[in-house]
Amino acid sequence: MYKLSSNISTDSAGFKEKREANLKLLEEYKKKIREIQEGGGENAIDKHRSRGKLLARERIDLLIDPDTPFMELSAMAAYNQYDNKFPSAGIVTGIGIIRGRESIIVANDATVKGGTYISETIKKHLRAQEIAMENRLPCVYMVDSGGVFLPDQAKVFPDKFDFGRIFFNQARLSAEGIPQLSIVMGSCTAGGAYVPAMSDETIIVKKQGTIFIGGPPLVKAATGEEVTAEELGGADVHTSASGVSDHFAENDKHAIQICRNIFETLPLPERQTLDLAPIEEPAYDPEELYGIAPIEIKQPVDSKEIIMRLVDGSKFHEFKQRYAPTMTTGFARIMGYPVGILANNGVLFSETSLKGTHFIELCTHRKIPIIFLQNITGFIVGKQYEKQGIARDGAKLVHAVANATVPKFSIIFGGSFGAGNYAMAGRAYEPRLLFMWPNARISVMGGDQAADVLVTIKRDQFKAKNKKAPEEELKKLRNEILKKYNYEGSAYYSTSRLWDDGIIDQVDTRKILAMGISMSLNRKFPDPKFGVFRM
Ligand code: COA
Repeated sequence: MYKLSSNISTDSAGFKEKREANLKLLEEYKKKIREIQEGGGENAIDKHRSRGKLLARERIDLLIDPDTPFMELSAMAAYNQYDNKFPSAGIVTGIGIIRGRESIIVANDATVKGGTYISETIKKHLRAQEIAMENRLPCVYMVDSGGVFLPDQAKVFPDKFDFGRIFFNQARLSAEGIPQLSIVMGSCTAGGAYVPAMSDETIIVKKQGTIFIGGPPLVKAATGEEVTAEELGGADVHTSASGVSDHFAENDKHAIQICRNIFETLPLPERQTLDLAPIEEPAYDPEELYGIAPIEIKQPVDSKEIIMRLVDGSKFHEFKQRYAPTMTTGFARIMGYPVGILANNGVLFSETSLKGTHFIELCTHRKIPIIFLQNITGFIVGKQYEKQGIARDGAKLVHAVANATVPKFSIIFGGSFGAGNYAMAGRAYEPRLLFMWPNARISVMGGDQAADVLVTIKRDQFKAKNKKAPEEELKKLRNEILKKYNYEGSAYYSTSRLWDDGIIDQVDTRKILAMGISMSLNRKFPDPKFGVFRM
């Protein structure tokens, strides 16, 4: 491998301008994160604490090993939706280390509408379980939830990936030998009762945790029986009579300690081995990424400038350096882990697709995780390229990405548009993790292009009727589309709807990728298996 060298002057006006703009975006992002971490607000927090309960993030802090990081996922789910009444969609999910084991943690935030589930809450819960399945990570559910958010029942109850899928996943995960543990720290009503009931082992907190299929009001309405929540489904009943729970805890802290003790009894996973090297910091300061991350999607960025600020020693073994330069491919190390990197430098041509496909084959055969650095406007268009078979070659790359048997990780550092998103391991292509930088943008095409397409269609319609196109109306249409794409293309819009696993600070990218790779080693990488490549 050789050390990459930068062509960027950190003293240039362009660098300084971008740096300022990116730091401003980052500050806005951090401010939003601080706001959503306040959960359901002061009154709800006071009420929660007055019951002797810890907050969701405090519970997680106690559960994970001291001085280890917690990788929170989709912290800004539901942001700018539901009048912002569901910060983090009322649930905290992420990857933490418990007794040395990377684990999935799912904690309801009962200060947000009683920890009830809207559509994004379910998406977050299911996404956490998906990560657990792909990487064989034990799951801990810290349950404190009123179940389905009843006004939204039609959006959250009946469909395949709605509320019921949570319990289906628990059964499937358990059958795969992936431990399912619940700590009941509050309400588990109706469907919610199945989270602990479906778990391999369950802990319940005295006078706080309750589990029942129907709560006291429902029991009264249905049978006339008057019963308190504690009598109906409290810790005492479930640990001494019903057997729905296995361990009786005095309080939150005690319950968390019991859960950590259970971890001592879990079998060790069969880990994938990788050829590790001593960790080296990048030769170029990752903070310089602020002066490089594109603010205007049209600004070209040499992706090697990004790579050299992410990888160990800024060292890179480039593959096909002289061929198809709109995509950089090559091997490097991140915190000692070997990685293959595909990074965009412009649009995807036929030869770019072939280069990417070849490189993915190398990574899968060598069992090296792949990192996709996305800044892509899409595949090249035009008569010449169609004739050459851009669709055929592009399909090869999409095939290779879809079938790559090694873990994939995607970072959107600029734009992510059209089929370029698919070819570079967008959400639908199951990267193990997908993060966006605050400056990133995502949509089916850029706003300008979408506006041009739609205005052209309208103009053609008038032409076909031999009528003059109403220019003012078309201008208005164009502006509306631009405005819509501008709003819907932002990283916030994406992260609110879980099209990604979160927005990250550019400087944390290296650390997050290393954590992701480490997590992925809990499942052995299968041997390569590809389908039919259209030749
Ligand atoms: N659907 C919609 N909103 C719900 C809800 C539900 N299932 N459960 C609670 N909420 C809302 C409340 O209306 C309240 O909203 P507000 O802050 O706008 O007033 C907020 O969540 C907090 O509820 P509250 O009852 O004041 O808090 P609590 O901490 O004392 O009790 C629960 C929380 C969850 C134990 C209790 O609200 C409850 O039993 N809810 C019904 C649970 C149920 O039957 N679920 C069936 C779903 S399948």
